[in-house]
Amino acid sequence: MTQFTFGLWTVGWQARDPFGDATREAIDPVEIVHRLAELGASGVTFHDDDLVPFGSGDAEREAIIDRFRKALAETGLTVPMATTNLFTHPIFKDGGFTSNNRDIRRYALRKVIRNLDLAVSLGAKTYVLWGGREGSEYDGAKDIRAALDRYAEGLNLLTTYVQEQGYDIRFAIEPKPNEPRGDILLPTVGHAIAFIGGLEHPHLVGLNPETGHEQMAGLNFMHGIAQALWHDKLFHIDLNGQRGIKFDQDLVFGHGDIVNAFFLVDLLEHGGPDGGQAYHGPRHFDYKPSRTEDIEGVWASAAANMRMYSLLAERAKAYRADPEVQAALAKSRVPELRQPTLAAGETAADLLADRSAFEDFDADAAAVEGFSFVALQQIAIEHLLGAR
Ligand code: GCO
Ligand code: MN
Ligand code: MN
Repeated sequence: MTQFTFGLWTVGWQARDPFGDATREAIDPVEIVHRLAELGASGVTFHDDDLVPFGSGDAEREAIIDRFRKALAETGLTVPMATTNLFTHPIFKDGGFTSNNRDIRRYALRKVIRNLDLAVSLGAKTYVLWGGREGSEYDGAKDIRAALDRYAEGLNLLTTYVQEQGYDIRFAIEPKPNEPRGDILLPTVGHAIAFIGGLEHPHLVGLNPETGHEQMAGLNFMHGIAQALWHDKLFHIDLNGQRGIKFDQDLVFGHGDIVNAFFLVDLLEHGGPDGGQAYHGPRHFDYKPSRTEDIEGVWASAAANMRMYSLLAERAKAYRADPEVQAALAKSRVPELRQPTLAAGETAADLLADRSAFEDFDADAAAVEGFSFVALQQIAIEHLLGAR
């Protein structure tokens, strides 16, 4: 069974935006847990402040957590991931790990560790770090190399801490190019992967890419996920929808670029060894029920995410199973790319000695044949539309 999970902050979003007030009432996290379970989700995720309002006293915090644990036990919902809100409170206006103010950086680390302890006690295996406020509007206002040093320092502290505690949890960085900051640090999957290579415990740090965030940067989400898999860094995934390079829309999964969503699901479900799953973790929806929706629309939109994923998975399965697709893939030489360019043990000297590779190779003749990619794409879209 596919594990579908949702953040408390997704269905719980009251639809306050920079131009308008909330259009919906707050929903009790305990009710969210019950409703998600009824809809068929298997897990729930949260920022510390989604569950325990910022500034709650210790006794109040414990009481809230107890009620939440009870709801989890009653429904069987799990908490595979948790994260920290380092963006809402005004103290984080210049960031958490990379604020220019050192006291704020120390406070941010304490806030993360406090919720990390809770996350582990609830069984979470992934801790997400979305640094929405880690960035700047003004190039002279942030020393970017120092900020990256501080970001790395924070992650090094956290990875050391979880090892000392014996925790079975890994960190997942969530890239985003902008919003709320003008420019956010680690803006894309590629930037984050490169950054992880410079950390003290890189095996404990991976990625939580979000569909819309890569698309806000004009990038191909499916390509980004494929590269994250190539690096063994796809620790978690935030699925949603986005239409082009604009503000972060957080639409329902598949309500943005449906063709890219189809190939993404095909990759996740069939991109592994022997055509099996390439990613086994939760299919986590980080979307916002649009501001136009009432409470009934909230639950309908939550169900829509799971239905879109399941429909795309069904379509991808039919696509893979179709002999015409297999023939079209072969005609397009897609499987041939898996064949190494050199023969086993072949050296540069051997390649240079191979006259058939160059001197006797008729480049003009080889250039005539097309790849039939358009025909392949047409069959894929016909499967996506249910026309096959
Ligand atoms: C966004 C982000 C956030 C983060 C979440 C995890 O839409 O900009 O998705 O929702 O995923 O806050 O920290
Ligand atoms: Mn988003
Ligand atoms: Mn997200």
